[in-house]
Amino acid sequence: MIPLASFTSMSQFAVICTTTAALWLGWRLWSFTLRPMLHPELPKRYPYLIPVAGHIRGMVRHTSNVFTQGKKYFGKTREIFSLVVMGEELYIVTNPSDIQEVFKHATSLDHDAMAADILIDMGVTKSTVVRIFEPIYRSKNYIQATHDDFRAQLHPGPRLDKLQADFLAHIDKSLRYDAVKGPMVKSSPTGSKIISLWEWCGQVLVDSAIEAFFSGSLYEANPDMLQDFFTFDEESWKLPYRLPRFAAKKMYSSMDKCIDAVSKWLEFPKEKRQASWIVDQMVEGLKEVEVTDARQRGAMVFVLFRVVNSNAYRLCFWCLVYLLFDPELLKGIKEEMQPAWSSEGVGSLDMSYLLDKCPLLSSFYEEVLRFTVDTVGARVVMKETTVGGKKLSPGKKLLMPFRQGHFDTDFFGPDATSFNPRRFYDNKSLSRSPSWKPFGGGLAWCPGRFMARREVYMFLGIVLFRFDTNLYAPDHRTPVFPVLDDSIPWGGVLTPKPGHDVLVEIRARN
Ligand code: HEM
Repeated sequence: MIPLASFTSMSQFAVICTTTAALWLGWRLWSFTLRPMLHPELPKRYPYLIPVAGHIRGMVRHTSNVFTQGKKYFGKTREIFSLVVMGEELYIVTNPSDIQEVFKHATSLDHDAMAADILIDMGVTKSTVVRIFEPIYRSKNYIQATHDDFRAQLHPGPRLDKLQADFLAHIDKSLRYDAVKGPMVKSSPTGSKIISLWEWCGQVLVDSAIEAFFSGSLYEANPDMLQDFFTFDEESWKLPYRLPRFAAKKMYSSMDKCIDAVSKWLEFPKEKRQASWIVDQMVEGLKEVEVTDARQRGAMVFVLFRVVNSNAYRLCFWCLVYLLFDPELLKGIKEEMQPAWSSEGVGSLDMSYLLDKCPLLSSFYEEVLRFTVDTVGARVVMKETTVGGKKLSPGKKLLMPFRQGHFDTDFFGPDATSFNPRRFYDNKSLSRSPSWKPFGGGLAWCPGRFMARREVYMFLGIVLFRFDTNLYAPDHRTPVFPVLDDSIPWGGVLTPKPGHDVLVEIRARN
């Protein structure tokens, strides 16, 4: 800041102010009036400046709340527009047909250049990034080969069946009445337990994912792995800002503990690790591309740990919330699921029945996703590409905020803003709608979408048939439906606002 006193006269100060204002007005005139007239092929700029420095993922956070405003500003044209964030132009794509086109241009609109950003955020060094992007592994690069392996593990087939069986066995074990213990139990009146629904979903699902993907031996490397992961998960929205360590101590220290644990665990003999196929594949691949540093291997595998675990427990929470607050819906869903539940014991839940014969459950699941997911697709323009009649220039970044499409009345009807568990049941084509992208799409289409549905069905199936569940509020108050916190776009399932947990009283059924 230049002190006022350093100006020799007030008139000098006035000249500087006037020049700055003129430059500012000139820039606005060029950006928002002349440029669109002279270059109609370029995306128009939304007249909103985001005064925040940061790299691309950080911008995602800041820009998210102007996506919908921008879409409204350009009205029904739904054309691609741009935002300027600290001098950097960012393309925003909201039209479903443009989004499909973006997915088709997988090379010129590159996903993996964005993925490198996330890897660096998570402690992967630049030299590792160079190794994993070199085309030296299975006639492609390590990242491309790993996309294939994710699909090979998580798309329907024998490998997913095996994972599903392991998952189910652990969920079943964790959902025994006696196993419901620890800090998630808030009190234990006679014959029942009052539990935090948020913590219950988190503990059971992340623990079961650890067992199924990594095996319990991970706890030998860090007995507090669950707690460290939840601390990181809660703080992880800060990661893209690249804050200095002192400004985000909790986030960095919990992330370090998680990465250290995975690194240490990877040093265990293979027989002791007993990992899933995908983890072994990742580790073998890293060896082949000569990423041998323990911490680098740990950071790479922790990226998988994170994507596997961040969303499913949140979705389970919301599914149970919607059911417990709507007894009629709960009754309908339970009636439909009942034949899948035979008796106690592992294997008591017929997953094929739940997946193939429960259309209301399926519709309800999709509607909960619609309400709670805030995914944003991101790409880097590698070479000039035309999408939706707009020319996109190399080096620029492109974002696709999918949530706005999930509330688009053209696709989801005039009641798009209300929760209707039968919506996808009444209109079977909705789940194939181009405006429906809860799991992203294109090359980065979440390969875990099949497992996510299975996890939720397993959890609901066991909870609803093994326990009597009732909402609980202290002092006979009325339980309050938790408010979705959309102020932090997580890029996945949103959380409830702080303090909006739900307490549930559970009793074991005879
Ligand atoms: C429950 C809700 C879930 C949502 C909304 C979700 C969403 C997403 C999205 C949007 C991406 C793409 C990210 C990007 O553009 O870089 C993604 C990637 C991924 N997800 Fe999910 N996900 C969910 C659950 C799961 C589960 C349960 C698993 C595994 C069991 C999983 C495994 C993955 C993996 C491995 C990737 C990386 C794919 C790749 O880079 O090839 N996801 N997820």
